[in-house]
Amino acid sequence: MKLSSVVLTGTAGLLSLALAACGGGSTGSGSAGGGTTTVFKLAFNQTEDHPEYVAGVELGKKLEEATDGRYSIRVYPNDQLGGQADVIQNLSNGTVEMMWTGAPILEGFNSDFVVFNLPYMFDSTEAQAEVLSDTDLLSDLYSSLEASKSITVLTGVNAGTRNVYNSKHPVTSPADLQGLKVRVQQSDSQVAMIEAMGAIASPMAFGDIYSALQTGVLDGAENNESVYHAMKHDEVAKYYSYTRHLIIPDYLLINTTILAGMDDADREAFLDLIPEIQTIANDGMVEFSNKSRAESEAIGAQFNDDVDVAAFKALVQPMTTASVNENEQRLKLYEAVQAANQAHPAK
Ligand code: GCU
Repeated sequence: MKLSSVVLTGTAGLLSLALAACGGGSTGSGSAGGGTTTVFKLAFNQTEDHPEYVAGVELGKKLEEATDGRYSIRVYPNDQLGGQADVIQNLSNGTVEMMWTGAPILEGFNSDFVVFNLPYMFDSTEAQAEVLSDTDLLSDLYSSLEASKSITVLTGVNAGTRNVYNSKHPVTSPADLQGLKVRVQQSDSQVAMIEAMGAIASPMAFGDIYSALQTGVLDGAENNESVYHAMKHDEVAKYYSYTRHLIIPDYLLINTTILAGMDDADREAFLDLIPEIQTIANDGMVEFSNKSRAESEAIGAQFNDDVDVAAFKALVQPMTTASVNENEQRLKLYEAVQAANQAHPAK
């Protein structure tokens, strides 16, 4: 199924609502077609060299071309529009049109989003990519927030592989996490995950981590190499250990009413661009992570790959089993992940 028909199915009931709503987006002048350009704000919490930023800018350019200048996108990096928890409220009420978001935040709106956020769910980024490009599988999940929150999920992309880091010592086994306060993304699954792995969970907004590490409020956090370096966490928590506990997506979101309010041809053109944008974001991630690691090493961070991953896996297994068995929808997603894992095992 094409993505455009997925979203349209989900938004069909909202089309009439949208006709009454104002289009959304700030309006500039002088589109190529001679009319005005509606510019969607796309909120992003990381830097301009991140592949999701690059993909967002590319989407804007291509959208402008495809709509003869009627629509464009401006990406706001570095949390300029606020932290994700605030931005998603503004996205829901339509004052921000688009955002890239971490996946756990969506669990607060529909807990079935949890499946892809569970530790050791995906065996490889290739398995994750296969599942995240299966639009038939994902259509119910991605349109599930449209009626209640006016949020449409456009696509999911690889947001790196997450590992733990801290200011005390390398982590080789669960015993090394005992007593450490570790920041996680703000959701129940992320709290349960790090506690099962042995640490004390500290859910916290992305932008607050650096100073919490610096002042000792936190002992550590868990994230990919690019966040570790770009947010300067490597300066204040020099031990990075490859627990490889999460291959987790980021999602590109748009306000449903604003999407539905575009005229049919422009919306179709917009949705047709999404798979290409997904590929741009995915393809950039490996190189960005490797470069980030080298830069962290250059300032003295220590990367440790001597980790008892099997021991961590065993500790989180009960939470994964309980969570995926909670309902049919989760089980369906989980089974799709298992099939993708078989086709693309860990290297
Ligand atoms: C990653 C991810 C973000 C997320 C962040 C976090 O950087 O790409 O979407 O917000 O981790 O840990 O909060």
